Amino acid sequence: MKPSVLVTRAIYPEVIAHLAQYFDVDDNQQDAVLDAAALKARLAGKAGVLANAADRIDGDVVAGLPALRAVCNMAVGYNNLDVPALTAAGIVATNTPDVLTETTADFGWALLMATARRVTEAEHYLRAGKWQRWSYDMLVGMDLYGSTLGILGMGRIGQALARRASGFGMSVLYHNRSQLPADTERALSARYVSKEDLLRQSDHLLLVLPYGPQSHHAIGAAELALMKPTATLVNLARGGIVDDAALAQALRDKRIFGAGLDVFEGEPSVNPDLLTVPNVVLTPHIASASEKTRRAMAMLAADNLIAALDQGPQAGHPPTVINPDVMSRRR
Ligand code: GLV
Repeated sequence: MKPSVLVTRAIYPEVIAHLAQYFDVDDNQQDAVLDAAALKARLAGKAGVLANAADRIDGDVVAGLPALRAVCNMAVGYNNLDVPALTAAGIVATNTPDVLTETTADFGWALLMATARRVTEAEHYLRAGKWQRWSYDMLVGMDLYGSTLGILGMGRIGQALARRASGFGMSVLYHNRSQLPADTERALSARYVSKEDLLRQSDHLLLVLPYGPQSHHAIGAAELALMKPTATLVNLARGGIVDDAALAQALRDKRIFGAGLDVFEGEPSVNPDLLTVPNVVLTPHIASASEKTRRAMAMLAADNLIAALDQGPQAGHPPTVINPDVMSRRR
């Protein structure tokens, strides 16, 4: 008998077909909402699950599910998983790094340019019929070319963003938990600075750090107060890194020039104050959403699930495992 797995949300049919070679697949192609209780009920008797960043899988969810051995996230970020609890329960956790790096960095650039040059605000202006004649200061924005780019969190996506900056003649500053090796810094033309200097000196600040207790509200009122009034801020990483209420206030007060946000505290809810300030570009967590990349993420999550449950050509060696100790304990 094949092991059973759950796929929590609708997904590309070829991914279901791929999994079905090895498993009895309980899919959710109708995309029904699974709250924590429904998720736990559907996980009963399952050996693994293909989940996504909106599925919270913690110790309570996995308690009393002895058959569960693998939780495979279709996302690079995994703050939705309680990894210590999964590890303690002997459950392998995986994510989908690398395949989304360039697509996410492209989108970071889209959000940055839209924010600095007020693209969505301009479109709303035009659609509302307000464009009656030319004026010298209509919707003027901030330059990217020749400006100083700040990157908070210099992992794979931060580095991909830094590489794009060279075409815009930008100086790149960054802050990270640890400084990059000198040759990597040289290749990226990026200079390590303190977080405070990053806030003070950046013309455009991109947030690409992982979310956790240490990065909760890494950008709040005090940090926004250090930024230039002409600066823009882009959050590509996770809701909760920015204090959204403090940001809405700073935007309203023109403490900073503008913001671009792909992620929100408590998403899919959005702080209502952010919905009423004009100088913010808002997108619904789509940074990795290109056709090619979403398929690659889904396939990588499926390959992780197959391998973590000791099936397929990579049996026992899931390609991108978060808690490798669990796999090695099993061997
Ligand atoms: C998306 O937010 C991801 O972490 O992949």
